[in-house]
Amino acid sequence: PNNTQSQGKTSGFVDKMKASGKNVVVFYGSQTGTAEEFATRLSKDTKRFGLKGMSADPEEYDMEDIPKLKEIENSLVIFCVATYGEGDPTDNAQELFDWLQTGDADLTGVNYAVFALGNKTYEHFNSFGKLVDTKMEAMGATRVFEIGLGDDDANIEDDFITWKDRFWPAVCEHFNLEQNGVEENSRQFKLVIPENVVEEKIFHGEPARLNSLKTQRPPFDAKNPFLATITAKRELHVGGDRGCLHIEIDITGSKLRYDSGDHVAIFPANDSALVEKLGELLGRNLDDVFSLVNLDEDSSKKHPFPCPCSYRTALTYYVDITTPVRTHILKELADYAADPVEKDKLLFMASRTEEGKAAYQEWVIKDCRHIVAILEDLPSVKPPPDHLCEMLPRLQARYYSISSSPKLFPTSIHITAVIVDYETPTGRRNQGVATSWLKKKDLGVNAPPPTVPIFVRRSQFRLPFKSQTPVIMIGPGTGVAPFRGFVQERDLLRRDGKPVGDTILYFGCRKRAEDFIYRDEMEEYMNRGTLSKFYTAFSRDSPEKIYVQHLLKDNADEVWSILERGGHLYVCGDARNMARDVHNVILDICQTRGNMSETEALAFIKKLESQRRYSADVWS
Ligand code: FAD
Ligand code: 2AM
Repeated sequence: PNNTQSQGKTSGFVDKMKASGKNVVVFYGSQTGTAEEFATRLSKDTKRFGLKGMSADPEEYDMEDIPKLKEIENSLVIFCVATYGEGDPTDNAQELFDWLQTGDADLTGVNYAVFALGNKTYEHFNSFGKLVDTKMEAMGATRVFEIGLGDDDANIEDDFITWKDRFWPAVCEHFNLEQNGVEENSRQFKLVIPENVVEEKIFHGEPARLNSLKTQRPPFDAKNPFLATITAKRELHVGGDRGCLHIEIDITGSKLRYDSGDHVAIFPANDSALVEKLGELLGRNLDDVFSLVNLDEDSSKKHPFPCPCSYRTALTYYVDITTPVRTHILKELADYAADPVEKDKLLFMASRTEEGKAAYQEWVIKDCRHIVAILEDLPSVKPPPDHLCEMLPRLQARYYSISSSPKLFPTSIHITAVIVDYETPTGRRNQGVATSWLKKKDLGVNAPPPTVPIFVRRSQFRLPFKSQTPVIMIGPGTGVAPFRGFVQERDLLRRDGKPVGDTILYFGCRKRAEDFIYRDEMEEYMNRGTLSKFYTAFSRDSPEKIYVQHLLKDNADEVWSILERGGHLYVCGDARNMARDVHNVILDICQTRGNMSETEALAFIKKLESQRRYSADVWS
């Protein structure tokens, strides 16, 4: 899938580096902005060693240029690359991936290093970063320093800094350089107050093209979302202390197509009360219009987000104000603390000492302090609003596994989203950005229907090509979402008189009477014979927890017989525990029922995965 294709290549990056006297290029494979931020920081670091760096989006440049790097003295290419989904590169690194796969370049004399970003909860931990590292070496490039493996499940900032602290000395040794500067907080963008700017030239939350949400032009994608209307919204839980939304989005006229198993991305907005509170803390009129302009004129990235815009727009649509603040931001905030005690607290938490790291874990991570909470609790810290907007990460689109089939709903996309809403240890109420924003969308009769900017991201999570192929679908909680689409599809096929193979669903939730979502629909599919088996695990209705994998274990013979008959197995939902536990049970079933050793069973599952007979759509 490649939804974020840029308009075309800027130029050869090596010529650009030569023209601007640069010798280090840091390519980022970024989906959520972290890899990009790390790349920018590495590129800034180069100054301290008398090098000159630039960070670059691999999608904007021709990767065929990499061998030419050896024409620049003391040159180095660094890759900061994230791994997504089933071990995939990010969208913007797809061409880098393709280039590496051809593998026929001669990279003798090219120096490189890799920092990989991943999440240990996923099976394919950092597999793309590792691939970059081994392919570069195989093509003859010189690895200047060992690959860094960042784990977003723990503290990726810490992994990065720890790696960086050892990486730069290795670079100095390799190129025989001396460190001649200290690490400093320096800005990448400067504040520009536009004069006499007309309203039509101001951005209002559109992710890229000016006024793209007002003048809608297909094709719609990540940079040009479709403003879709919400046509239905209902609560799926019956009582209980959590909520789960069923939402229907109209895509008529958008030319957007989807298949069951695809994802829909939603661009949310931050809570307006939180934005206003931040405006108060910063002492800034949020209607003021500003621009942030890159100080490096050679950079292809002119602005951190669409500018000019008002502070309200930036804080509402462009920057993330609700995730726990990262240590490098704390360090920059310290510059703006009037109270020395508060300054020291920030610097201590941003320091690399064990005590400092522990304080950060406690005060920021465990206490779930976002930027607003930090500025509330450290009242002397008054960063200039434009610098704050530069520091904060970009607000990300949220993905949802589409819970409808286009065969039944060609002009609408259904979403099944559990609402994030919890109290933090400091007594604050934190609400999920996208889910609380969706929850507030009002479908009143007299109001205009609410809208959401969306795009569709294609996935590989697909029903088997032949409808006779049996399937086992394992989807506890909102993990049932894509399977609702799958079952709708098989139901239509069956009613059309097509032969449909066994369709087995495993669902789990806390309590039968509360969070058994889509119960009526699934029971109806059972009655009609579309679902051949429907197994349910209720974890909090009995003294001991019953989970889907326990039922799988009980039904080991059936699971094995489906696999033997060429069936497909699907898992969707929680990546942290459920997907792994299910994997282990399947592994066990292969060993006991298929008479395999553990190694054989692992290889068997790998083969199923490569044949797309064992697919996962999981998130954490
Ligand atoms: P955010 O503002 O992003 O807040 C969520 C974060 O809050 C969590 O990551 C966690 O760090 C923190 N948090 C949450 N609860 C607590 C707590 N009790 N204590 C401390 N911290 C906490 N979600 C669905 O509901 N349905 C789907 O079908 C679905 N499909 C997905 C498919 C993919 C490919 C991916 C990547 C994700 C999917 N998600 C799905 C998750 C979804 O994208 C969002 O992450 C989710 O809805 C939360 O978004 P939010 O903006 O409301 O919350
Ligand atoms: P619990 O919250 O009672 O522990 C959907 O979220 C369902 O998945 C819930 O019933 C939840 O149970 C259950 N669940 C939690 N951890 C799980 C795991 N490791 N494997 C399978 N299901 C799990």
